[in-house]
Amino acid sequence: MKKPFPPGPHGKLISGSLEDFQKNPLQFLQTVSEEYGEVARFRFGPTQQVYFISDPDLIKEVLVKKQRHFVKSRDLTMLKPIIGEGLLTSQKDHHLQQRRLIQPSFKKTDISKYGEDMVETTNGYIREWVEGDIRNITDEMMNITLGIISKTMFNMEFNEGHRIIGGPMDKVMRSAIKRMRSIVPTPLWLPTKTNRAYRNAVEELDQVLYKIIEKRRELNEEADDLLGKLMGARDEENGKGMSDKQLRDELMTIFLAGHETTANALSWTLYLLSQNPEAEKKLHEEIDQVIGTDEVRPEHYQQLPYAQNVIHESLRLCPPAYVIGRQVDEKVDIGGYSLKKGDMVLMSQYVMHRKEKYFEQPNEFIPERFEDGWKDSVPPYAYFPFGGGPRVCVGQYFAIMETVLVLTCIAKEHRLKLASNDPNVRATPLITLRPKGGIRMKIEKR
Ligand code: HEM
Repeated sequence: MKKPFPPGPHGKLISGSLEDFQKNPLQFLQTVSEEYGEVARFRFGPTQQVYFISDPDLIKEVLVKKQRHFVKSRDLTMLKPIIGEGLLTSQKDHHLQQRRLIQPSFKKTDISKYGEDMVETTNGYIREWVEGDIRNITDEMMNITLGIISKTMFNMEFNEGHRIIGGPMDKVMRSAIKRMRSIVPTPLWLPTKTNRAYRNAVEELDQVLYKIIEKRRELNEEADDLLGKLMGARDEENGKGMSDKQLRDELMTIFLAGHETTANALSWTLYLLSQNPEAEKKLHEEIDQVIGTDEVRPEHYQQLPYAQNVIHESLRLCPPAYVIGRQVDEKVDIGGYSLKKGDMVLMSQYVMHRKEKYFEQPNEFIPERFEDGWKDSVPPYAYFPFGGGPRVCVGQYFAIMETVLVLTCIAKEHRLKLASNDPNVRATPLITLRPKGGIRMKIEKR
């Protein structure tokens, strides 16, 4: 039998629960799940119905079993001027076509070839670190991961990605975040100061991206990297290649999706280790035992189970992608409730990963929980830092290998302590879960 509507907060007359969500999404969603159960309903604005789902089996229904009834949610529109119609935002047939093209560059069995560039890029940056330095470790991780994605996907020189893309990208993200912070962002065409700054930043970034494409076209040969593959791809029906705009969108998507989340994951990991000396000690012992005085090599990645578990546990406690949204495209039943076209569904990694039902001592950092057989002890969608189904993160294996190798290069040489003047590390849940203002840490030689 169909149930009536699920319970949920009433919110305000006009805006519903939008302000509560925007003020503190993590706390809002956690409270809704605790107070109203596994399917809850509230409003964003006068008419947008939102279903918040916090049950692993029902999350699987949305992301996998009944995924055809959904499209990616409209909240991504904030990102559209930046990433356009790239893999992250595209829908249906266009998405499928692009996914087929891009996925092979990230196959689990093939990513080992990127390991050397990951280690080399990391060492290139951390070589500059000096004992006693206090650095904004989030900025450092952004530089490293941007360097890695630029080198591995677009064959750029060391430092080139960060040098030419870093500045404009940072400006774009800062203005995008400023717009998101306003409860009701003004339409982009209005010439407000924030909008102008945003549009200028996007234009500056566009110029850099089109220059990369132009330079590659002038080379006139098919390179064996992702950009080469994208440029060489032809439509099966009309034989046409991608337009410069399409290439720009895919390039930007990979630059953004491929470095921002990973940099945040690494920042949280270094912070969590600094707060958990027992885990830090175990990590150092494993690295010393496996690598000793050798250089870090890509194949070490497989031999460092504790380092891998440190990353899994960090992604559990501080998932950079903390919420996933979908929009109902065709009416569908979820958990006995009837959802209609246009309704929104939210699912939160942050909320699921901290449920006592699935994780003992959910707020503690315990990498050991991921040892032997952990996967069998929790339902699949109780832990889903990379999403699931056909829109699962295309870079998930790349990201795990990258974070483990970067962490290993750092922890082999250095111990990072929270700078004494930065005792209140807080999360800002915007597009991703970022540490507010970045985390400042003191470098100590091991
Ligand atoms: C710790 C690091 C990362 C996390 C936590 C993460 C998380 C996610 C999640 C949750 C999604 C699915 C979003 C949804 O279903 O709405 C996603 C999609 C995606 N990710 Fe990642 N990601 C990470 C690293 C990467 C890397 C290294 C790349 C490399 C390019 C990447 C590229 C993408 C792309 C292109 C998509 C869209 C896939 C599609 O819709 O077909 N991500 N990511």
